[in-house]
Amino acid sequence: MTFTPQFLDEIRTRLPCSEVVGRRVKLARKGREHAGLCPFHNEKTPSFWVNDEKGFYHCFGCGAHGDVIGFAMRIDNLSFPEAVEKLAGEAGLELPRFTPQERERAKRQQTLHEVVEAACAWFEAQLKGPGGEPGRAYFAGRGLGAETIARFRLGYALDGRENLKTALKAAGVPEVLMLEAGLIVKPEDGRESFDFFRGRVMFPIMDRRGRVVAFGGRILGDGQPKYLNSRETPLFDKGRTLYALDKARVGVAGGAGRPPAELVVCEGYMDVIALHEAGFAGAVAPLGTAITETQIETLWKLAPEPVLCLDGDAAGQRAALRAAERVLPLLKAGFSLRFARLPPGDDPDTLVRRQGPAALVELLGRARPLVDILWDAETAGRPLDTPERRAGLERRLKERIARIADRSVQQQYFNSLIRERLWTAFRPGRRNPAPAPLRAPGFVAGPEFDAVLLATLINHPSLAADHCESLAQLTLEGPEFDKILKEILHFTARAELDTADLKSHLMQTGSAAALSAITRPDLYKLWPFAGPQADLSAARTGLDHVLARFLERRLEVEVDAARKELAAAESVESEARLSSLQQQLRHAGLRGTTSLDEDDDFSRASG
Ligand code: UTP
Ligand code: MN
Repeated sequence: MTFTPQFLDEIRTRLPCSEVVGRRVKLARKGREHAGLCPFHNEKTPSFWVNDEKGFYHCFGCGAHGDVIGFAMRIDNLSFPEAVEKLAGEAGLELPRFTPQERERAKRQQTLHEVVEAACAWFEAQLKGPGGEPGRAYFAGRGLGAETIARFRLGYALDGRENLKTALKAAGVPEVLMLEAGLIVKPEDGRESFDFFRGRVMFPIMDRRGRVVAFGGRILGDGQPKYLNSRETPLFDKGRTLYALDKARVGVAGGAGRPPAELVVCEGYMDVIALHEAGFAGAVAPLGTAITETQIETLWKLAPEPVLCLDGDAAGQRAALRAAERVLPLLKAGFSLRFARLPPGDDPDTLVRRQGPAALVELLGRARPLVDILWDAETAGRPLDTPERRAGLERRLKERIARIADRSVQQQYFNSLIRERLWTAFRPGRRNPAPAPLRAPGFVAGPEFDAVLLATLINHPSLAADHCESLAQLTLEGPEFDKILKEILHFTARAELDTADLKSHLMQTGSAAALSAITRPDLYKLWPFAGPQADLSAARTGLDHVLARFLERRLEVEVDAARKELAAAESVESEARLSSLQQQLRHAGLRGTTSLDEDDDFSRASG
């Protein structure tokens, strides 16, 4: 919909800026203007001014500036038409519909909204009703409480041909509208139409304002498709919609005593719900497709650097790279994506349920910038041991950089990827052939990784004695885990080595809970060498890898620090320090990666 300038002016005239702003910001009159604390940045003394004559607000602190419409857009994260619509309502103005077609379409959309809303309410009611037991059992099995079910308006579609259809018909909804809303299907051969969703738990999909526009329905057991989504309708454009955006908008804004939540993009409905339940109020997901340009732009309206939380498996990595490629042309100063990678086999839902929110907080904290993803994509697993191969890398990196449209961002990428990483890594005069990438690929360190280390030691205590020197230098991040490590070292120093003894010793020293978080069959499945079935030599090789990664992780932190130091003040010493660290890091990476190949991909689940 377009608005005439006259209409927009009418809004501005009817609604003084101080009135619109004054509803959200406490303003004090200062001569011909009003002043208050800026709602767009944190401040203690007012630098936010409103001028009714000019119809503008302006913040001298952060530079925020605009008219009433801009204010409404920014404060409530509304699109332009949404803001106009809202303000027109407040100003008592009827929205102009220019053509009868437009008027007709608006009315039809309104009606469709009502139909989809009615379907949502019906699914909700079925979940609570006598036929809803399978749905209730399903959600209970996935750990969702009544509050979450109500908040996300989860529902249940009865298994039958025309339950919803009959219910909506009784409420006076014509079949054509049910069809248009994607709620029923009409077979080509002229047979009766029937319900699209049958025997599924229902996840309504809301638009940014919280109106239901579509549904995802999950099958209760195994079967295909796992999730069935509404087809696209006049209300539902998959590529423009993000699941839970309405809730994340509020979460990301913070307020009411809550700090602004981090904007986290995950892959599925259940992930989003689990994250909100665990206190991550800024979780959203695209709808089973790769993230689109429009979705990225939408995310950027809420936060400059959303974190993509992708599965740790190969598909998740491919998705990360796809998102990275897609965002390059859109990059602008201050805006990007970050990438968090989950342990293989986990999604955000299983991670927070198994390890608690802290594990995810840590993972998000370690999210990597886009520039790292590009570097890894071009270097991981590729030999760079000849001038030709390195020139090939340079060309590929430059091709990627060329796709960045924003000149200043492009320049920075050139500096970071080409000057800093490539040219530093292969600067002449260095004898190191540098055949490996600076960073070994595909490994998530963190609490899970700590558990793998400890499980290996518990199941093969003799290794602790063999490696006591390197182990003594480690500090694990979780205090519980660190305590266990120290106990193991004590124990192995003075006792005969036996898993059962060690376990009972750990139980007696107050580590029973942590112990059961470590000695888990699912962990052994992913990391066979850590389990009791592994023979000693496999366990030893595994432990070597793990220790190499710990070293690498520490070096990465130091390299980062050295890079920052160098950026702050270029000096021969800091440059030398950086290059020496990078060299160590390459060696550490090498130790991990070379034997990794011989080792039949020890880092991933075998089946
Ligand atoms: P996943 O297969 O990763 O499932 O799909 P999930 O989210 O972990 O689901 P649970 O935990 O098994 O219930 C991720 C997302 O991809 C879309 C859905 O949006 C889903 O949430 N998807 C998946 C589909 O649209 N159709 C499918 O058949 C499968
Ligand atoms: Mn899942």
